[in-house]
Amino acid sequence: MPEVCGLFNLFRKKAEIDLSRLPVHIAIIMDGNGRWASRRGLPRSAGHAAGAETFRSIATYCRDIGIQYLTVYAFSTENWKRPEQEITAIWDLLRKYLLESIQKMAKERVKIHIMGDVGAMPDDIRQLIYETERLSRTYSGIQLNICLNYGGRYEIVRAARNLAADCAAGKLQPADIDQALFESFLYSAGVPDPDLIIRPSGEHRISNFLLWQCAYSEFYFTKTLWPDFSINELNTAIAEYQRRERRFGGIKA
Ligand code: IPE
Ligand code: IPE
Ligand code: MG
Repeated sequence: MPEVCGLFNLFRKKAEIDLSRLPVHIAIIMDGNGRWASRRGLPRSAGHAAGAETFRSIATYCRDIGIQYLTVYAFSTENWKRPEQEITAIWDLLRKYLLESIQKMAKERVKIHIMGDVGAMPDDIRQLIYETERLSRTYSGIQLNICLNYGGRYEIVRAARNLAADCAAGKLQPADIDQALFESFLYSAGVPDPDLIIRPSGEHRISNFLLWQCAYSEFYFTKTLWPDFSINELNTAIAEYQRRERRFGGIKA
């Protein structure tokens, strides 16, 4: 079957994308690593390692074509339910990629922003995160937002709690709270909402990702497992996005 798929891909028309109308912000739920590994008789950690390589190639391609923001879901607040061994393997990968990013950032001018509760991460990873964010401040290239220990509901509750604390301290009045102010308390403060959200692996759900920000996002679902997600498929997703008409509640122009 893989041979047949390979042949099919060879003859499949390459998706044409219009580089002048790219989505400003693409977000991806990097799902399917475990199934990718199981199908090969490999441990789930091998799937996460393969998925991390896919992230590297997709992020590089997004930077090269001029995508301004790429947000990826790497670990959710619910993923703590997994076996400790799998979680440790994910932290090991993260450590490796953060160290590598710190070394390469000056050359690639990529900005990295972590979205999520980093307080629960191992100490050394937290330090690497702070260092990556500190270095990022000087760069102006593509911004990579990596969602780690991230949950959309937690993000909203955290914003509400911080707003309430400011009200209790007399810094704010409840009537000052509007959508713009609320947004400025989210992890994604200052980042435009995602135009296109991609979910590989055949699932058709949001799994607590960017609940506030996805209000008017376009969705692209595919059965492809994340480690197999290719640049060609990203182009297919962008081409489909470019064929859609976004109305934001208005009527056709
Ligand atoms: C996504 O892949 C990565 C994380 C959630 C950390 P999964 O590990 O969920 O892969 P599947 O869904 O079990 O195949
Ligand atoms: C979503 O995938 C989280 C990440 C990709 C990091 P999950 O595998 O955790 O989602 P469910 O459990 O299938 O909804
Ligand atoms: Mg999954």
